Amino acid sequence: MKGAILLPSLLLLLLTLLTGVCPRRPEEKYVRAGEMVALQCPRYRGYDHGDGRLIWASHTTQEKDLTSDMSSAEQMEMGVLVHGRSLVILNASVNHHGNYSCSQGNASRKYWFKLMVYTTRTREYEEKTTYPMTCNTPESCTLTCPDVNIPAENIPDITTSGTIWHKKADSSLTASYFSSVKENDGGVYTCTRSYLYHGQIYNMTSTVKLEVQPEKKPKKLAEITSPRMSEVFPVDLGSTVMIDCQAVAYSEFDEVFWLMDGSFVTRDNSSPVFYNFTQGPGKNKLIASLVFKKVSKEDLLKNYTCMLQCESQPSSYVFINLVQKPRPAYVSLSLGIVCFVVVMVSTVVIYVKFKINITLFLRDTLGCHRRTSDGKSYDAFLMCYKSDTDAGLNDDDRKWLESVMEEKFSYSLCLFDRDVLPGRAVQEAVLDCVQQSRTVVLVPSSSDPGPGAGFLSVIHEALVERQTDLVFIRTEATEVWRSGSLSEALQLLSEAGDCVTWKGVSSMSPSSSFWKQLRYYLPAPQNASKIRLLPK
Ligand SMILES: *[C@@H]1O[C@H](CO)[C@@H](O)[C@H](O)[C@H]1NC(C)=O
Ligand SMILES: *[C@@H]1O[C@H](CO)[C@@H](O)[C@H](O)[C@H]1NC(C)=O
Ligand SMILES: *[C@@H]1O[C@H](CO)[C@@H](O)[C@H](O)[C@H]1NC(C)=O
Ligand SMILES: *[C@@H]1O[C@H](CO)[C@@H](O)[C@H](O)[C@H]1NC(C)=O
Ligand SMILES: *[C@@H]1O[C@H](CO)[C@@H](O)[C@H](O)[C@H]1NC(C)=O
Ligand SMILES: *[C@@H]1O[C@H](CO)[C@@H](O)[C@H](O)[C@H]1NC(C)=O
Repeated sequence: MKGAILLPSLLLLLLTLLTGVCPRRPEEKYVRAGEMVALQCPRYRGYDHGDGRLIWASHTTQEKDLTSDMSSAEQMEMGVLVHGRSLVILNASVNHHGNYSCSQGNASRKYWFKLMVYTTRTREYEEKTTYPMTCNTPESCTLTCPDVNIPAENIPDITTSGTIWHKKADSSLTASYFSSVKENDGGVYTCTRSYLYHGQIYNMTSTVKLEVQPEKKPKKLAEITSPRMSEVFPVDLGSTVMIDCQAVAYSEFDEVFWLMDGSFVTRDNSSPVFYNFTQGPGKNKLIASLVFKKVSKEDLLKNYTCMLQCESQPSSYVFINLVQKPRPAYVSLSLGIVCFVVVMVSTVVIYVKFKINITLFLRDTLGCHRRTSDGKSYDAFLMCYKSDTDAGLNDDDRKWLESVMEEKFSYSLCLFDRDVLPGRAVQEAVLDCVQQSRTVVLVPSSSDPGPGAGFLSVIHEALVERQTDLVFIRTEATEVWRSGSLSEALQLLSEAGDCVTWKGVSSMSPSSSFWKQLRYYLPAPQNASKIRLLPK
């Protein structure tokens, strides 16, 4: 029982393999009732078995072998015409609706057609039989009638008598050629081909939907918009600099990037020089920003290139160099002012700190000092007074002081115990000495070789009166005196004159600061200068 079912199936399979027969969708054809339609049997392997006779069969309301069963007259009557591989239905009607097949020889596979005859213009029919076409303003445009379902040219007795065009909803004829098509030329057109057969005219109508598109824009070129040309960018060393290269592109494959001396700049933003990439506000605007985190001297030596690489045109470039910004004028000006102030301040500081050394240097080596011709005989009146405390200079120190002043530094001194002539009134003699001296030097002493402390007030008055300078020598012990422990006259004198402190043994050397100070406050020795200087 099983074998009985299996056998036919195997046979069918075998048959299929041998003949290549397998179910196949028929080719669909659409025609309006009253129109002509032609079916063309294709020459494909499987349908064409060499010299076998071509057989057309209709599988409409009645099965019919259109080739062998019918005579030409019968064909005429049915309104069909078979010639070679063509089957022409001259005047389609609902009777022609159905399937058709063609095959060559009994063994060959059949090729199927499904003919659909419409009596009314249905939407489906319109869709299946409307052919689209596109033209652009303001170009020329020729409507072409589709070559579908038309009879082969070699069929005897059928002659074509031209094609006419209508625009839909317009009964008048139109030309199929537009020298310069306009947008309102768009719409649905029908073309009617007419064929003459045995004195009868048969029509074939097709529909063409013309779409008129606006003028094609000229193709835009991608370009770098900024910087416009090779540029030199002034930068400050050490500053962060960002240079934007902007481009307009029209393809998603266009790219903008930076080169540094011919090699690619990285996009890695951890490196000192990199570029990053943004798509601008418009979709076709590209920005590649070259970033220098800290401009170095080496960066100034390199050449930078912004490159726009396009798929449809040659690449474009812009060349960039960096230069150091010139310092603005106000920076130099303020720098100058600062330098001037610094020089001034340091000059003042140096002068204040070293004024004694400088003055003595100028006086000793260059002989620069004020020369007075005041008719005075002495450079200084060295006056000792008995100090109230034990803080005065002892006799040896006093003698040393006098001898260094006279012998080492050539001061001419008026000394009370030497130069004041005895026999005169003491007060008068002291005042005379003051008058003959340019400076009075008050020396506290532990003994009392001078006129005594009682004369101090007299001297003070004389100094004020005669405008004579006073140098007040103190000892380290007198320095700690409280004001008030000094006598009133001494107090006044110490305030009126310049003070120099005798520091005992350390002040003995003529190069000690005691001597420098003392000489600074004293005028230059007049005798010495007369000897040393060239006569004027
Ligand atoms: C086509 O057939 C229709 C009806 O069958 C008829 O009215 C018409 O005249 C025929 N057309 C031609 C050209 O024979
Ligand atoms: C035509 O063939 C299709 C299958 O291809 C079938 O469904 C349809 O019934 C056939 N029509 C006629 C009229 O034979
Ligand atoms: C083809 O079929 C016809 C009948 O349809 C028959 O008379 C003829 O012998 C067949 N030819 C072959 C080669 O089978
Ligand atoms: C064929 O088309 C022409 C032109 O449109 C028309 O005059 C004629 O009547 C049509 N013939 C038939 C049979 O439809
Ligand atoms: C590019 O890098 C710079 C510097 O790091 C930054 O300021 C800028 O926002 C970056 N731009 C983009 C689009 O990442
Ligand atoms: C940079 O370009 C200038 C001229 O454009 C060229 O003379 C110079 O050699 C270039 N420098 C480098 C490092 O390529």
